[in-house]
Amino acid sequence: MLSNMRYDTEALWAKDRDHIIHPWIDLGTAKTRQPLIIAESAGAHIYDSDGRRMLDGIGGMWCVNIGYAREEMVQAIADQIRSLCYYSPFGLISTPPSIEFGTRIAQYAPGDLKHVFFTTGGSTAVDSALRFVQFYFNFIGQPEKKHIITREYAYHGSTYLSASVSGKPGDRGLLDFVTDTVHHLPAPNPYRRPDGMTEAEFCDAKVKDLEDKILELGPERVACFIGEPLLASGGVIVPPTGYQRRTWEVCRKYDVLYISDEVVTGFGRLGEIFASEPVFDIVPDIITSAKGLTSGYVPLGAFFVSDRLYDRLTGPEGKGKYFTNGFTYSAHPVACAAGLKNLEIIERENILGHVRSTGPYFLERLKTLLDLPIVGDVRGSHMMVCVECVADKATKQPMPGDWDVAYRIIRHAMPRGLLVRPLSHMIVLSPPLTVNKTEIDQMVDILRASIRAVADELMREGLWRSAA
Ligand SMILES: Cc1ncc(COP(=O)(O)O)c(C=O)c1O
Repeated sequence: MLSNMRYDTEALWAKDRDHIIHPWIDLGTAKTRQPLIIAESAGAHIYDSDGRRMLDGIGGMWCVNIGYAREEMVQAIADQIRSLCYYSPFGLISTPPSIEFGTRIAQYAPGDLKHVFFTTGGSTAVDSALRFVQFYFNFIGQPEKKHIITREYAYHGSTYLSASVSGKPGDRGLLDFVTDTVHHLPAPNPYRRPDGMTEAEFCDAKVKDLEDKILELGPERVACFIGEPLLASGGVIVPPTGYQRRTWEVCRKYDVLYISDEVVTGFGRLGEIFASEPVFDIVPDIITSAKGLTSGYVPLGAFFVSDRLYDRLTGPEGKGKYFTNGFTYSAHPVACAAGLKNLEIIERENILGHVRSTGPYFLERLKTLLDLPIVGDVRGSHMMVCVECVADKATKQPMPGDWDVAYRIIRHAMPRGLLVRPLSHMIVLSPPLTVNKTEIDQMVDILRASIRAVADELMREGLWRSAA
């Protein structure tokens, strides 16, 4: 244990059960659950309430990019609280940290995306971006441009609208969604492409899906396409090469705005502050950001919008027109001060360079797990990778959800010193960007032992039999 704090895990469990409603929890476990309680942290490691030290393969939730317990961050946040803990961002009021941070990150944004609208997290960034698009088309006299195209297995957030443009089938359960103006295309997942189709043909087909949908709806009715460059929470789906550029070209052709959701891919996870232009060769109309924006130390989100769009709204015609969207904690000065310090650390320590050189090693080492009999696919890029378990490698049949494969892997990995994120029959890795090669080797070794143990367990229980 790092500090002298002692935690009574059983007592915490009881209070948790009595009072806390968790996001994404199986409500059937509400009265019996014993959650993992993460109590402390340092560098790339977390400690649970019993003092167990684990490498954080999740990076909190794709967000603790600079690693934990940075004293400089503590200081910057404390200093800001001391000088100005909060002030309203509404109307004609601003604060120095939000002005300075907005200006600093706008320098990294591609093309003419030089204006930033701060929010409180990723969902509110996506929601605000979509509302901005609605506002824009209403403003310029094209109110019929209302339809939004997105993809299955996308994750864009948990407000009504951001959840509606998300597309993970498992999240559709008992909630309601906007359905009349939101359209989902099939996911561009090369691993699940039809047998016999090359990756290039698959790319053609997925680009055609978009073009066909725009033509079906009528380009004059389609407002925007929203996409994560890599579909993160959908299982780190890496679209076929050229897909992002070609879908962007289709949007340009039909005057459909392109929103690149970089909540996960931004701030270093792919080795760039914004991956859209340097990695995928696109300059979107809007980019959304959160998570690594402050490395998760304090909540913050943002969307960046092009001068091309913004300037149309801010001339004399804008007089008396209000973009009536925003939050009490938009552009929170403490969050912006944390963002400034986070960016300073990323630059000073050349964390982007570190990710560019270490990222390929991370993926290459994880791909060695493909020799395990239940590992069907290992995919990703740099510091975001997914390991997909299948019941049959030849047919790619996923392991059924009720086998709880991901949770089984975690149960074996934790005592060995690693926490990873479960996603049905997949596990996802998105560690702090500062992990070194020794820590990567440890992660891979622990995963190998854990997946092996799970395969043995499934065999013993008669659920699965090796084809070999
Ligand atoms: C790509 C993407 N967009 C948006 C969000 C929503 O962000 P938040 O949970 O901060 O609201 C997430 C969260 O994981 C995400 O992965």
